[in-house]
Amino acid sequence: MSTQQKSFSSSLGAIMAAVGSAVGLGNIWRFPYTCGKYGGGAFLLVYICFVFLIGSVLMMSEFVIGRRAQHTPIKAFQTLCPRHKAWGLLGLLGVITSFFILAQYLVLSGWTTGYVSHSITGQLAALGTSSAPISEHFAQFSTHPVQPVIYLVVFSALVLCVILGGVQKGIENVSKVLMPVLALLILVLCVRSLTLPGAMKGVEYLFSPDFSKLTGEGILAALGQALFSLSVGMGVMLVYGSYIPVNENIFKTAMWITTCDTLIAILSGLAIFPAVFSCGLDPAGGPGLVFCVLPNVFNTMGTAGIVFSVLFFLLLTVAALTSAISLLEVLTATFAEHTRTRRAFGAILLSLLVTALGVLFSMSLGTLSHIKITGLTLFDFIDRVNSIYLPPICALGTVIFLGWMMPDADVRDEFSNHGTLSVPVYGLFRFIARYIAPLALLVVFISGILM
Ligand code: TRP
Repeated sequence: MSTQQKSFSSSLGAIMAAVGSAVGLGNIWRFPYTCGKYGGGAFLLVYICFVFLIGSVLMMSEFVIGRRAQHTPIKAFQTLCPRHKAWGLLGLLGVITSFFILAQYLVLSGWTTGYVSHSITGQLAALGTSSAPISEHFAQFSTHPVQPVIYLVVFSALVLCVILGGVQKGIENVSKVLMPVLALLILVLCVRSLTLPGAMKGVEYLFSPDFSKLTGEGILAALGQALFSLSVGMGVMLVYGSYIPVNENIFKTAMWITTCDTLIAILSGLAIFPAVFSCGLDPAGGPGLVFCVLPNVFNTMGTAGIVFSVLFFLLLTVAALTSAISLLEVLTATFAEHTRTRRAFGAILLSLLVTALGVLFSMSLGTLSHIKITGLTLFDFIDRVNSIYLPPICALGTVIFLGWMMPDADVRDEFSNHGTLSVPVYGLFRFIARYIAPLALLVVFISGILM
């Protein structure tokens, strides 16, 4: 089956699947600690501007390119710009980025899956309420040669199953069920967190703007987080764009996705910080916040804590699952289009490859920590490549392609569903795609390298 024939069955399905891709560990794990670090409310304000002004424009650009071309990234760029086939390389770079991000994502997802099981078995609860054993548990688990690998493989198998189900029966149906479940889980956790004694201090930490902490670095971090959180700049939204039904309003769809993604990030902050403050713990836990600080919070709640712990790590795992699905879908769809083999064959092959790479990254934190690239372990190296180098380049290429290579008439035609929609925002969209977004991305990219 070729890409052209595939599509999400409804606009709701398309939105849910794309929200599933966007909402992930970036919202629940990365956003809260980044926001806390760079001045709470001040960061949030800048973040919201970036997400809506630049992030959503990138998403619309990928949707326009994907739906117009009806191909996977490499062929999409080539089809829309037949005179310069070299643009296909940009698509290739996007697909490669997806491959590396997925491998790294699998490692983190393996941990969250492991923590669901550790919560259920009471292993986490047994660690008590002092910080040292909890941090040690995480250190031992994440560097163990076998344990995290087992969970990684289980998680990866789940992802593969959904992809084998196909675009409508797999991705769309799973997203339509899991995204509401995720919203419910997070609301339950928010209510619990906000009703704890002393919760308001956490709310203040998240929302009260402290502009003195909002440095240039913070502003760049806000833009980086905006791109990461919306899953733009790696061909994922381009492929999902090619599945968006022809009569769907691209602008509205992207706005819905952006709004949901931002809401979930804010709700995650509200689920985490009030509880952390209520327990008198250090909110600046950084990346370890979720694994090293939160178990402490749950353990102060007695038996109910076990339930909340299971719910929380389940939430993380569900969020990671729908994101991982979108990444494997890009790889699978691209492979199928270029090799003309069956979808299932490519999905299994790619899943095996990316899982093997994930296992290698996971082991680079323990058994293989002596292997170094430019002084970094494999895991830290790929983390750098995945955040600083690849996504900003792909994103930059994408807006330049849309703003400067595609004829204005084509972009407008696709954006307005062949002129059937009135789209007053088109001029603004085009302006941001041509000037503002490329400039902002260039600044992020250059400063990322220099830092
Ligand atoms: N947006 C995802 C998150 O918030 C992370 C991510 C970045 C991603 N790029 C992606 C997910 C591409 C799927 C596809 O966690």
